[in-house]
Amino acid sequence: MLEPRKAWLLAAAAVCAAVASGCHHETVAVRGDNAAGDSTCLSCHVDHASFEQTAHHLTSRLPTRASIAGSFTPGLNVLRTSNPSLYFRMDSTADGFYETAVSTHVRDTTTRTERIAIVTGIRKGQSYLYWAGHDQLYQLPVSYWTGSGWAYSPGYADGRPNFDRLIPPRCLECHATWVEAVPAPGVVNRYQRADAILGISCETCHGAGRDHVRNERSSLHWLLPRSIVNPANLPRARQLDGCALCHNGTAPLRTDAFAYVPGQVLQKRTALATRIGSDTVDVHGNQVALLERSRCYRSSQMTCTTCHDVHREQRDVLAFSGTCLTCHTPQSCGLYPKYGQRLVGRCVDCHMPALTSATVIANSPGHQLRVQVRSHWIKVYAQMDTLPSGSY
Ligand code: HEC
Ligand code: HEC
Ligand code: HEC
Ligand code: HEC
Ligand code: HEC
Ligand code: HEC
Ligand code: HEC
Repeated sequence: MLEPRKAWLLAAAAVCAAVASGCHHETVAVRGDNAAGDSTCLSCHVDHASFEQTAHHLTSRLPTRASIAGSFTPGLNVLRTSNPSLYFRMDSTADGFYETAVSTHVRDTTTRTERIAIVTGIRKGQSYLYWAGHDQLYQLPVSYWTGSGWAYSPGYADGRPNFDRLIPPRCLECHATWVEAVPAPGVVNRYQRADAILGISCETCHGAGRDHVRNERSSLHWLLPRSIVNPANLPRARQLDGCALCHNGTAPLRTDAFAYVPGQVLQKRTALATRIGSDTVDVHGNQVALLERSRCYRSSQMTCTTCHDVHREQRDVLAFSGTCLTCHTPQSCGLYPKYGQRLVGRCVDCHMPALTSATVIANSPGHQLRVQVRSHWIKVYAQMDTLPSGSY
């Protein structure tokens, strides 16, 4: 009679032999031809369905009336510029959605129209991308910024009809699941349009899920390995890398776009990917570098998921302050003698303030637009020492 453990191992070996490669799982990056797809994942993980409403999932989409935040209502669909002979018009027609630059000259009026093909962004703003020459991807001149409407795309000079900003693979690596680049000498923005997977999906963070789905569907699933990355089981640095792929500055990586495999070391090109500090933040915040500066982070095992559950939308700042109290007490705050329990629920307001970026993201006539970014450098901010009166 075999010991139970040995019997189990023999049975497992038999299953491995029967189910080809079932026990030799190697996590790979998600691709058009190996993606199981979010709907397959959610067919079993129904409790994660809220993911479909998150900014991650919605960060790139096809254009529809619902996905485009800007207005097409006549009168509201125009962006004037400081150049009196140039304006932009956004149109919704039966065939699609368009941006048109209208240049009026003494004798004639010239226009250039491009069709919105991909919508990126959902919270603070959106940029729109278009295809030219069939498979080359560019950014359109007019973006949308929450609170101010149609506005120039970041960095575009006022008064010029600029349609020339290329979209490189690194941009899509952070805002989509998979788009295959077409290698072409000296050209960085050619793609296979057909098999693009827009939006960030389950498999962006968990790795391609084909083996996992096959194993879990097998009648022998109880004997087979899970074959999927659970970031919670990774060392802390690898957990951070999984977020740093996109939240550690926009500098290119050492590896090709879409080559990063969850669980592996992220090959950063420079030790500190971007300069940080309130004067250099832009719409692309660098939460990883800021958090790493915090004493909370250095003196604990804190990771991004200490506060964030990426499977659902979390916008309640009060609730985030509750997380502080898993490690601190209100009494640990130097202002406790003054405010007592009134500090509860307000920790984030003072120690992770929303700071206004000094980087202008869009120039509009007579109007410079800046975004607010939540600082991930948890510390004492000298100017944040008074609790506004009134209850929250
Ligand atoms: C046929 C059902 C099924 C499908 C489809 C499925 N899973 Fe799972 N998955 C399970 C079961 C069962 C478990 C183990 C129990 C649990 O953790 O919920 C699991 C566990 C996991 C875990 C935790 C693994 C661990 O080691 O702790 C992750 C992560 C995961 N699944 C992600 C996914 C992703 C991503 C997809 C889509 C590519 C997916 N699952 C598709 C059934 C499924
Ligand atoms: C593939 C790139 C990518 C990865 C990997 C990634 N993110 Fe993001 N994340 C984004 C992008 C892009 C946005 C902004 C989406 C938008 O608003 O269009 C975002 C937004 C967020 C937000 C704001 C959501 C909101 O609704 O306000 C949080 C929080 C966040 N990410 C946390 C994380 C954490 C934690 C991880 C690691 C577990 C992670 N992200 C991994 C790209 C990524
Ligand atoms: C290194 C990853 C990365 C790259 C490269 C990148 N982004 Fe982002 N982008 C993000 C993340 C992460 C956020 C959310 C940042 C935050 O809130 O701190 C974001 C935010 C945005 C937003 C605002 C979204 C919102 O809902 O607030 C837009 C629009 C955007 N990116 C467009 C682009 C475009 C277009 C490109 C390429 C030209 C690009 N990004 C390149 C990661 C990236
Ligand atoms: C932005 C990255 C990201 C995306 C996208 C993502 N996850 Fe996760 N997932 C994580 C992280 C990080 C953890 C570990 C959480 C922790 O440390 O507690 C996790 C844990 C899990 C687990 C195991 C623990 C649990 O919550 O049951 C399952 C199952 C899972 N994810 C399924 C999914 C499914 C299904 C989707 C898509 C609908 C998805 N994930 C999308 C990052 C992600
Ligand atoms: C995982 C545990 C953990 C969480 C969660 C946490 N902290 Fe901390 N924090 C610490 C530790 C540990 C220290 C260092 C204490 C020491 O060295 O005496 C610290 C230090 C601090 C400091 C002093 C910083 C400095 O530069 O001197 C402040 C302020 C602080 N935390 C506020 C917060 C706030 C606000 C939150 C919630 C947004 C929070 N912490 C969440 C563990 C945590
Ligand atoms: C101590 C808690 C805490 C930790 C740890 C933490 N965050 Fe956050 N994060 C927050 C709070 C609070 C907000 C603000 C939420 C809001 O205003 O809706 C936030 C917002 C964000 C946003 C939206 C940014 C913006 O300016 O709107 C992103 C992206 C994000 N976090 C990513 C990350 C990443 C990546 C990590 C890990 C490197 C991380 N966070 C770790 C508490 C935390
Ligand atoms: C009104 C702004 C404000 C709020 C709200 C607030 N703090 Fe503070 N906190 C401060 C200031 C200012 C200091 C520095 C006080 C001093 O040194 O006299 C401080 C100090 C601290 C320290 C000690 C830093 C050190 O030097 O070791 C910790 C820890 C801390 N706060 C945690 C919290 C927690 C947890 C909450 C929520 C329950 C909170 N704070 C709410 C402003 C605030």
